[in-house]
Amino acid sequence: RVPEPCALVVFGVTGDLARKKLLPAIYDLANRGLLPADFVLLGFARRDWEDGDFETLAKNAAKQHARTDWNEEVWSRLSGDIKFVAGSFDDDDAFDTLATTLDDLRQSHGIKGNAAFYLSIPPSLFPTVLKQMERTKMADNAASGGWRRVVVEKPFGHDLASAKELNSLVDDVFTADDVFRIDHYLGKETVQNLMALRFANQLFEPVWNANYVDSVQITMAEDVGIEGRAAFYDETGAARDVLQNHLLQLLALTAMEEPVEFTAEAIRTEKIKVLRAIRLPSDFGAYAVRGQYEQGWLAGERVLAYRNEKGVPADSRTESYAAVRLGIDTRRWAGVPFYVRTGKRLPRRVTEIAVLFKKAPHLPFSHTDTEELGHNQLVIRVQPDEGVTLKFGSKVPGSMMEVRDVSMDFLYGEAFTESSPEAYERLILDVMLGDATLFPRNEEVESSWRVIDPLEKFWAGQEPAPYRAGEWGPKAADEMLARDGRAWRRP
Ligand code: BG6
Repeated sequence: RVPEPCALVVFGVTGDLARKKLLPAIYDLANRGLLPADFVLLGFARRDWEDGDFETLAKNAAKQHARTDWNEEVWSRLSGDIKFVAGSFDDDDAFDTLATTLDDLRQSHGIKGNAAFYLSIPPSLFPTVLKQMERTKMADNAASGGWRRVVVEKPFGHDLASAKELNSLVDDVFTADDVFRIDHYLGKETVQNLMALRFANQLFEPVWNANYVDSVQITMAEDVGIEGRAAFYDETGAARDVLQNHLLQLLALTAMEEPVEFTAEAIRTEKIKVLRAIRLPSDFGAYAVRGQYEQGWLAGERVLAYRNEKGVPADSRTESYAAVRLGIDTRRWAGVPFYVRTGKRLPRRVTEIAVLFKKAPHLPFSHTDTEELGHNQLVIRVQPDEGVTLKFGSKVPGSMMEVRDVSMDFLYGEAFTESSPEAYERLILDVMLGDATLFPRNEEVESSWRVIDPLEKFWAGQEPAPYRAGEWGPKAADEMLARDGRAWRRP
């Protein structure tokens, strides 16, 4: 589906996110024929720039980071629709210019009154920008004669209190239906496939509960360090950076009930129920672990300790690793632990959801090491090697009745010829289409902070447990599972 004519206004267009993700995604959409014929990309930043300078930035970004092939013809069409407004966020004149530019574009580019505003800026600047939008009536659907939407990037606050403040700030200016909070994990093809896997099949749902599931492990491992984002990361840490959003969203999609219909409202309603039913461990000391990487080796290269990264204070206590055991207080999941972990400078980049089933209640084989046997696992590989693996026991060929675990694999790359859109591509398209299915609602954000706040409070002032870069996190994380007679998967 192609969206209606519209403008996409990006605040903070010279930032990292715009360069690496947003601008390339817009080019990809153009390349796939998914931008409306009447479209304008409008950049706003504090640079003494003309349209042409922004165009050059966008071209370089697209050439470097776009997912689809370079097509000069597509680019030259898109480049005619690129505009720039210079100014700082507290500059009334600049916002007046932006408002008149949007008005003028109605005629010159046929965008009607439709515009989406992407806040690719630090949250500390939100109040200023939102006030400017209110003052200039830019957020006003009625005044614009079309639709006006706002896209808010994470972090959605620093804790529950600041998230509430932020939510009410945005809600003062935009109506709830026009607010799109980006959690780019929801834009990933494999994450959306979780719903297809669960609800389009008969096979999985009957065993998707505490009767059959022993435990669930959700892993988001990265081999990279903090990639020059010390100022942001050291204030944030792993739990706020990705556990609060990406990982809890994965957990919610894994654990939720079937929505009554496939609409934004119905899906968000089910996710909220899960988030609200999350139970923190009663013993944080045993079941919540945070760590920080020390120097080590990754892919044959020596890498620095977190505390020696440029811009990180030498005595920083910020965690680059977090793991916690969560419960979900519902009939479906009572007693099933959800082990959730994330870390930087782990051995490899991998995000997966592993559903580990209980052992078969009885094994009629005598010649087999039954201890090892029969833990079926369903592993949803979010990235890379996107796909699903089912592990089950199989007879080893030969005269003995020996059984060993084997895997059955589904790989996107092999099963489909269609290429997956990048998460941002999908999400930006959905904003223009007005489809909020893949965007968390403010109650989801607030419920997630209710999970994170007590952990942060417990961790405050504590030294994170060290782990060597290139290893799977601190020893305490292994001990946490060992205490329950389990072990982390080594994906
Ligand atoms: C971001 C975090 O939200 O997600 C980063 O701020 C992290 O710290 C990134 O590296 C990972 O995204 P992806 O899509 O590469 O898994």
